[in-house]
Amino acid sequence: MLGVCYYPEHWPENVWADDAAAMAALGITYVRIGEFAWSLMEPRRDAFDWGWLDRAIETLAAAGLKVVLGTPTATPPKWLVDERPDILPSDEEGRVRRFGSRRHYCFSSPAWREETRRIVEAMGDRYGEHPAVAGWQIDNEYGCHLSVLSYTPHCLAAFRQWLQQRYGTIAALNDAWGTAFWSQTYNGFAEVDLPILTLAPANPSHLLDYRRFASDQVADYNRLQVGILRRLSPGRFLAHNFMGFFTEFDHYAVARDVDVASWDSYPLGHTDQRLPMPAEDKTRWARSGQPDVAAFHHDLCRGMGTARWWVMEQQPGPVNWADFNPAPAAGMVRLWTWEALAHGAEVVSYFRWRQAPFAQEQMHAGLNRPDGTLDQGGEEARQVSGEMTVLDGHHTKSRRAPVALLFDYEAVWTFQIQPQGRGFDYMALAHMFYRCIRRLGLDVDILPAGAPLEDYALVVAPSLPIVSEAAVTALKASSAAVVLGPRSGSKTASFQIPGGLPPGDLRALIDLQVSRVESLPPSVQDQLTWANKTYPVGLWRERLESKTAESVASFQDGEAAAMTQDRCHYLGFWPEEAFLTDYLAALAEENGLAIQRLDEALRLRRLGDLTFAFNYGDRPLPAPAPEGADYLLGGPEIAAHDLAVWKSR
Ligand code: GLA
Repeated sequence: MLGVCYYPEHWPENVWADDAAAMAALGITYVRIGEFAWSLMEPRRDAFDWGWLDRAIETLAAAGLKVVLGTPTATPPKWLVDERPDILPSDEEGRVRRFGSRRHYCFSSPAWREETRRIVEAMGDRYGEHPAVAGWQIDNEYGCHLSVLSYTPHCLAAFRQWLQQRYGTIAALNDAWGTAFWSQTYNGFAEVDLPILTLAPANPSHLLDYRRFASDQVADYNRLQVGILRRLSPGRFLAHNFMGFFTEFDHYAVARDVDVASWDSYPLGHTDQRLPMPAEDKTRWARSGQPDVAAFHHDLCRGMGTARWWVMEQQPGPVNWADFNPAPAAGMVRLWTWEALAHGAEVVSYFRWRQAPFAQEQMHAGLNRPDGTLDQGGEEARQVSGEMTVLDGHHTKSRRAPVALLFDYEAVWTFQIQPQGRGFDYMALAHMFYRCIRRLGLDVDILPAGAPLEDYALVVAPSLPIVSEAAVTALKASSAAVVLGPRSGSKTASFQIPGGLPPGDLRALIDLQVSRVESLPPSVQDQLTWANKTYPVGLWRERLESKTAESVASFQDGEAAAMTQDRCHYLGFWPEEAFLTDYLAALAEENGLAIQRLDEALRLRRLGDLTFAFNYGDRPLPAPAPEGADYLLGGPEIAAHDLAVWKSR
């Protein structure tokens, strides 16, 4: 159940065997290696040097460890870049990005596809059937360092082809994009440019199609490697490691082609850099991470549709890449590990075995310090591996959660292209819905729109601007209460306002019309009345009109703020946390769910026949367990940064 990322190429060969023995002694099963080592595998074109890698794999295998081998395509070597510079990506200003860090390739470059095929085939030939190789990680963190969007001539050519396939005729494209506006009409696909360097914002339909195209390029590139490894490495799993709070490509689409979805969990860096929240909250969670940051991604990763999912990289100590890089509070590495397992992870793999004293990540902790002594994170990993036997004899398979949250990548892009109010951020909205539900003690499945929704009691779509037919069908087929957030159904697939006005095709669930929307600066505040209580509201307001749906909440002037019809509920405003928690609590209870309002530092998660409670706070809290609960770990009082596990009743 535990793994580690290891870089044998960073250490003298005479320490490998000791490292491997120490990993095994710590309770580690899987070791990921190789994902950045191209220049050592192939120092010059076709002059492969597999000797060191053969010996590294043998050494790990001799200690009883299983190898996850990375394809090294995130780091094309210098000789290759010099030989074929047109593998490099370009930024919006046409500046070619250079060698010297990583991810310096353009997904659309034909030369790059050729080189990828060459190195992956060479690795597959050599190690595809090696008994110690349990699986593969393809590439590393697609999109890291904002590398999905590139603007080379190769991108332009591939984009035009993509458009031709999507639209068939240029007339269809002109129609979909509304090019009659501002004299944008095209006479052929060869006239269409990249949507950059325009004086005023480019056409939103053009921008959205470029995002879709770029996302498709990632999935297509991934399939190139999948195809090769399926052929050369039968019976081994294929994985990719996604990033937290990263939305530049559709992760569901990439996950469709692999066996193990995985993600890289850095709760402190993600809390500091990626989650919009008030400064006092950032301070409060600086050493633990905000309690829903890792959990959100665990649930998202589980929802990718692969039968298995992992945490491929787990933060072991301070990282090097955030604005500030505090050390995790004592106990947090253990807590994060258990939390991932509680959410259903098959393996939690730490990044990295030993801190490197050189190069870009020398300030990034490992389980061990650069001198080889075990660091705090390593101590805690050892503790978890010692505790794991408590799971023996228990059911530890994830069950369906009572609540589903629909998370949609096109929604992210739509909000980014047309925020309509400063700072409007789909990820922030989605995460707020998630937080509110988790504060009620409920488990959540995060799913793509269109996934089957039978057997859920509550389904929330924080916002679903573009609604597919499959999504409408799945929502209609479900017996769950459905909550639709603001701007749902507000755009067609080609980024136009739907005929009949928003929420477009969602009218099949709730018969209302959004006849006007406005965004408001933070200084303009209104009040919302719902269930005889008032809440502050601002930022976004919709005018809802309906002959059949019932108004259940109103703004100060009496206009409807939220409507309900049958089991569908629509919110015509940007909710705040206090309201959303109360509102979702009421809906959950009406639909038969037992809620527990939790302390803001406490979270619950059920796995199989067990219930886990995690205390992210810095003082002890009572476990929200039934009287006389049968504890496997911890007890009725959960210490700061600690957990308890008991048998569910
Ligand atoms: C990412 C990468 C790793 C490493 C870590 C550092 O997750 O995949 O190679 O750079 O970040 O936190």
